Amino acid sequence: MEFLRILLSSICLLVVIDHWQGNAEPVGDKEALLDFVNKFPPSRPLNWDETSSMCANWTGVTCSEDESRVIAIRLPGVGFRGPIPPDTVSRLSALQTLSLRSNVITGRIPSDFSNLKNLTLLYLQFNNFSGPLPDFSVWKNLTIVNLSNNHFNGSIPDSLSNLTEIAGLNLANNSLSGEIPNLQLPRLQLLNLSNNNLHGSVPKSLQRFPDSSFFGNNISLGSSPVVPPVPPPVYGPSSRSKKHGRLSETALLGITIACGVLGLVAFVFLIFVCCSRRRGEDDDAFSGKLHKGDMSPEKAVSRNQDANNKLSFFEGCNYAFDLEDLLRASAEVLGKGTFGTAYKAILEDATTVVVKRLKEVAVGKKDFEQHMEIVGNLKHENVVELKAYYYSKDEKLMVYDYYSQGSVSSMLHGKRGEERVALDWDTRLKIALGAARGIARIHVENGGKLVHGNIKSSNIFLNAKQYGCVSDLGLASIMSSLALPISRAAGYRAPEVTDTRKAAQPSDVYSFGVVLLELLTGKSPIHTTGGDEIIHLVRWVHSVVREEWTAEVFDLELMRYPNIEEEMVEMLQIAMSCVVRMPDQRPKMSEVVKMIENVRQIDAETRPSSDNQAEQKLPQHDIDNSPSSSPSPLPKGSE
Ligand SMILES: *[C@@H]1O[C@H](CO)[C@@H](O)[C@H](O)[C@H]1NC(C)=O
Ligand SMILES: *[C@@H]1O[C@H](CO)[C@@H](O)[C@H](O)[C@H]1NC(C)=O
Ligand SMILES: *[C@@H]1O[C@H](CO)[C@@H](O)[C@H](O)[C@H]1NC(C)=O
Ligand SMILES: *[C@@H]1O[C@H](CO)[C@@H](O)[C@H](O)[C@H]1NC(C)=O
Ligand SMILES: *[C@@H]1O[C@H](CO)[C@@H](O)[C@H](O)[C@H]1NC(C)=O
Ligand SMILES: *[C@@H]1O[C@H](CO)[C@@H](O)[C@H](O)[C@H]1NC(C)=O
Ligand SMILES: *[C@@H]1O[C@H](CO)[C@@H](O)[C@H](O)[C@H]1NC(C)=O
Ligand SMILES: *[C@@H]1O[C@H](CO)[C@@H](O)[C@H](O)[C@H]1NC(C)=O
Ligand SMILES: *[C@@H]1O[C@H](CO)[C@@H](O)[C@H](O)[C@H]1NC(C)=O
Ligand SMILES: *[C@@H]1O[C@H](CO)[C@@H](O)[C@H](O)[C@H]1NC(C)=O
Repeated sequence: MEFLRILLSSICLLVVIDHWQGNAEPVGDKEALLDFVNKFPPSRPLNWDETSSMCANWTGVTCSEDESRVIAIRLPGVGFRGPIPPDTVSRLSALQTLSLRSNVITGRIPSDFSNLKNLTLLYLQFNNFSGPLPDFSVWKNLTIVNLSNNHFNGSIPDSLSNLTEIAGLNLANNSLSGEIPNLQLPRLQLLNLSNNNLHGSVPKSLQRFPDSSFFGNNISLGSSPVVPPVPPPVYGPSSRSKKHGRLSETALLGITIACGVLGLVAFVFLIFVCCSRRRGEDDDAFSGKLHKGDMSPEKAVSRNQDANNKLSFFEGCNYAFDLEDLLRASAEVLGKGTFGTAYKAILEDATTVVVKRLKEVAVGKKDFEQHMEIVGNLKHENVVELKAYYYSKDEKLMVYDYYSQGSVSSMLHGKRGEERVALDWDTRLKIALGAARGIARIHVENGGKLVHGNIKSSNIFLNAKQYGCVSDLGLASIMSSLALPISRAAGYRAPEVTDTRKAAQPSDVYSFGVVLLELLTGKSPIHTTGGDEIIHLVRWVHSVVREEWTAEVFDLELMRYPNIEEEMVEMLQIAMSCVVRMPDQRPKMSEVVKMIENVRQIDAETRPSSDNQAEQKLPQHDIDNSPSSSPSPLPKGSE
């Protein structure tokens, strides 16, 4: 199955949730779009079903917040061929973003695009557009214009000078001729006119750009630029001047750009991986407060691999982005985990995803892909969905939904203090039940052989119903075992894994038991007390429990809730049965689910919920809800 630059499909959770309540849809815009695809069918069919909700379900379509208008169309690489039919797209008069890049569109940019007065981002690169460039003066709000890699000819129009907001202009790889006009574009940060038929010299106003902006023309290039670009004042505090010098460095091939109009977004452009270290401030100056970049995943992927730049998406996702978008996104390091570094990336449409950059992958491409298919097709409300992945020789990336609340680990162990919201017992129960169900579901996958392999509280998140939801599954089997660090994960690792370095389903049960203990005690799996003494949570709980059966193990934060001690004790018993030393004496995950369900019927209160979650359509897992076996007694001789 060949993936194009982008694969689009139907639905995503979480991102679109807020837009689900049935609003009236912009009827005129819907008709315009249907008209557009009927006259201009892409070779890769879209899911634009007349009867479905355009704003919620249509691939590549974004509506305004109140769903009154369509404001963005992103259909890269769907196989549009030929000229854009007139009087279709142009009817979307509120359009702000138009991306039809990487298709085979021919002809001119339709003259009726002049109706799109609010157009801000225009991406038409990698098509077969030809003829002269349009009159730009009609799009006063244009911020990014990328018309590179087409067959535009004629000269560069003076009307570009009307684009007072423009921050990025890429006209490279066309057939433009004539001299470069003296464009006055104070906010322009990225310019590329390379590989055209331009001649003459670089006008004064553009001499701040590097020679590489003008390569491949008959243009006399003077010395390297003297004056670096001035950053647009609206995007950041002026005190950022220290970065100006960096931008002019020839070593710096990545350039950050931003468009702030409508509080939109920031973009990071990077052409080659530059060895020079860029700091968060680089992004910052442009993007304002949106994010604090530290290290972006674009560093992760070398542009040299452009030929194979494909993200593989899974069914059931209407994310419309590809690797380039990802590279351009602003990113922030979320944490360095067992198998690599996780980044939070904010895309051009404000979608937020988590990008995990794997290190030490031990298997080849085929095995990796096979494994990703198993993981990616596992859909369950208690399993964090893998949205996409990327594999190349040097880089392996995985893309997940982003959970703004953070992980259970940060909820439990994040700074305890006045501001901290204590996790109440009901929430902890739901976390435990959700995570247990998620793991149980994982354990039936792949003929009952799939192993999570890295269960810990920092891999558990809260889904929209506040139940636990497990992430990062199945990586253990494709990572080289050397990647398993000794330190922090150790507190979760079953004794047999320490010896064999091979995770199995019983070791998942053990790790889950440690998570339960964490929820009950509020303590980290490995922590120190006053001195340097290292305490293993499992051993500690054992010792306390053995000495005297007291409430001493429980998290003090839980003590304020009345009448829960019995439930906590039951939960403690379940946890203890999971962390039994001998793997074959541990319960199966499906049994653990039943035990937890038995502690309290929490579902009853919440199941028939009327919330709007997309998850509701997801299949229930195979474990029935019937009350069953009572919690097992405390195991003996376990430690
Ligand atoms: C969106 O599509 C899903 C199936 O993909 C369907 O169940 C749902 O009803 C659709 N939503 C709307 C609002 O049309
Ligand atoms: C353009 O954007 C502005 C500000 O968001 C909005 O008030 C106006 O209605 C938009 N124009 C059209 C034609 O939608
Ligand atoms: C376009 O620019 C005008 C003037 O700056 C502004 O009022 C309007 O909101 C902008 N529209 C959009 C969609 O940004
Ligand atoms: C698009 O441009 C390429 C390169 O010039 C050319 O080979 C191809 O035939 C063109 N395709 C169409 C559909 O015009
Ligand atoms: C642009 O290309 C077209 C053919 O594609 C040609 O007819 C026209 O003369 C060219 N214009 C210029 C200015 O070269
Ligand atoms: C801006 O657009 C107007 C209308 O097209 C045009 O007359 C004017 O010359 C343009 N300004 C510049 C500086 O190009
Ligand atoms: C335009 O597209 C090219 C090719 O995809 C890309 O390298 C460049 O970063 C883009 N430039 C802008 C200003 O968007
Ligand atoms: C221009 O085309 C060349 C060769 O086709 C390609 O390597 C380069 O990335 C393109 N430049 C841009 C800015 O897209
Ligand atoms: C390059 O431009 C100069 C004048 O700017 C002209 O004399 C020369 O013939 C041009 N060379 C080519 C190869 O077009
Ligand atoms: C412009 O594009 C050319 C051709 O792809 C490339 O070599 C050059 O580095 C680019 N310059 C800038 C400033 O992006």
